[in-house]
Amino acid sequence: MRTQVGIIGAGPAGLLLSRLLALQGIDSVVLENRSRDYVEARIRAGILEQHTVDTLTEAGVGDRLAREGLEHRGIYLQYPGTRHKLDFPELCGRTVWVYGQTEVTKDLIKAQLDGGPPLLFEVSDVRPEDVDTDSPRIRFTDADGNPQVLECDVVAGTDGFHGVSRPVVQQAAGGQVWERTYPYAWLGILADAAPATDELIYAWHPDGFALYSMRSTKVSRLYLQVDPSEKIEDWSDDRIWDNLATRFALEGWDLNTGPVTEKSILPMRSFVSAPMRRGRLFLAGDAAHIVPPTGAKGLNLAVADVTLLASALVRLLAEKQTDLVDSYSERALARVWRCTHFSWFMTSMLHRAGDDFDAQLQLSQLRRVVSSEAAARELAENYTGLPLDY
Ligand code: APR
Ligand code: PHB
Repeated sequence: MRTQVGIIGAGPAGLLLSRLLALQGIDSVVLENRSRDYVEARIRAGILEQHTVDTLTEAGVGDRLAREGLEHRGIYLQYPGTRHKLDFPELCGRTVWVYGQTEVTKDLIKAQLDGGPPLLFEVSDVRPEDVDTDSPRIRFTDADGNPQVLECDVVAGTDGFHGVSRPVVQQAAGGQVWERTYPYAWLGILADAAPATDELIYAWHPDGFALYSMRSTKVSRLYLQVDPSEKIEDWSDDRIWDNLATRFALEGWDLNTGPVTEKSILPMRSFVSAPMRRGRLFLAGDAAHIVPPTGAKGLNLAVADVTLLASALVRLLAEKQTDLVDSYSERALARVWRCTHFSWFMTSMLHRAGDDFDAQLQLSQLRRVVSSEAAARELAENYTGLPLDY
């Protein structure tokens, strides 16, 4: 087999890259080690920045998003006694959209299988080779157990945090990683309950952070800060709802409860790997960086990476110019670090950790954000997404 761009991983990064390249006449093959059902069932965050919505729409996968996505014009920041709305259009002229990453992935897979470039599920033993030459290849075993070789001009490592691509980049001289593991986790639930709020609520509470999000007018997505050692079996639905009610409590307002359809505990970590390129192997999305979910930057960063990468690869493969591939890692990492800082800032401001001195600093920061237009605008600009070539 031969293609121009061999893409490892069919998460949002790999699928969108394949599509953006196809629209520019560059062919690709996407290799995914899981099944279609597995990939389409993964529950992840659900906030899309305006540039993400624009990119998906321009890529021809925005129809269902336009019909079913919910535009959101702000967020509430809460601490005991106060729930304050930050109005994004007023502060920075932009909005965000609620539309699950799971749905984005389904739309991309559907478009791909409906006449798009090849997408192979359930492959194994995927190995990028000879990435320091102009003719790299990917060895893998197909779903029927046959060994295969995919000859390429370029390999894209969009295989997420546990993929095989990042170690290959890191084996070269000059590789570096930065990491922070936070001393808390999120317990997340999906519930068949109408959201009791028009906008997402980010709540600071002495017992720990809570987030009220949603997936539709009938489905709520809620999170509680818990200790990373907590076991999901120890959290009955009643215990979860009691904790949510305490942390979101506000005079005259009530939570809507309903059947819990999914619950899990997610670790919280920041991770950045540089560079995002070795020779003809380019990393994008979670393969190169992880942010904690506070601020919902993970998917948006992946989309920003592949938008930069697609234009750089078109310039390399169609116009034989290396300038954009040469600057790709640096340009992508500038935005990665901005989002890494913002995600760390939101996480640090809202989660209960440390002592009462830390708590007073957090409350002071929250009061600053809700009372100073400059501080609120800084948060709003980062939350709704900075320009692509930041
Ligand atoms: N071979 C082939 N595919 C692989 C391999 C491998 N060795 N290892 C992992 N994969 C696949 C995974 O099964 C997954 O489908 O690569 C895909 C990577 O997808 P994601 O983890 O969704 O990462 P990405 O596409 O970068 O999307 C980033 O996902 O984790 C969230 O918060 C993150 O929202 C962000 C988004
Ligand atoms: C979500 O809806 O899953 C979500 C929303 C906002 C966040 C994180 C997750 O900051």
